[in-house]
Amino acid sequence: MYSEKVMDHFTNPRNVGELADANAIGEVGNAKCGDIMKMYFKIDKNVIVDVKFKTFGCGAAVATSSMATELIKGKTIEEALKLTNKAVVEALDGLPPVKVHCSVLAEQAVKATIADYYTRQGIDPEPIVGKIEEHCHGDECGCSTH
Ligand code: FES
Repeated sequence: MYSEKVMDHFTNPRNVGELADANAIGEVGNAKCGDIMKMYFKIDKNVIVDVKFKTFGCGAAVATSSMATELIKGKTIEEALKLTNKAVVEALDGLPPVKVHCSVLAEQAVKATIADYYTRQGIDPEPIVGKIEEHCHGDECGCSTH
């Protein structure tokens, strides 16, 4: 059911924990399953130099947040904003359809954290980051196309 990569990132997730010197923190939750994802970024000169996450959620949520943090580490904010849940799913060699919404949570967590970075500087994040779907509606919302 799960690819080897998903199992690997679930059993041995990368970048787990908190960042004491984070200058951006974002949290999103899935209203349906109740899972929560929190991300911590250290951003320096527009580059995400360090990233950690904590996920209180299902295995797919752990695996997707692990992969998402790997994909954005060392990248610019602009590059990180382009990360889609689809790219995360592809990097994990796929997810079962009922679990695709979990990857949306990872994409939204990245965006929420970048939004926090701008908010802390008194900049309205919405024109840059877009609207954050903090509460994904679950399987029926067609998340894979977000
Ligand atoms: Fe909730 Fe996966 S079932 S994020």
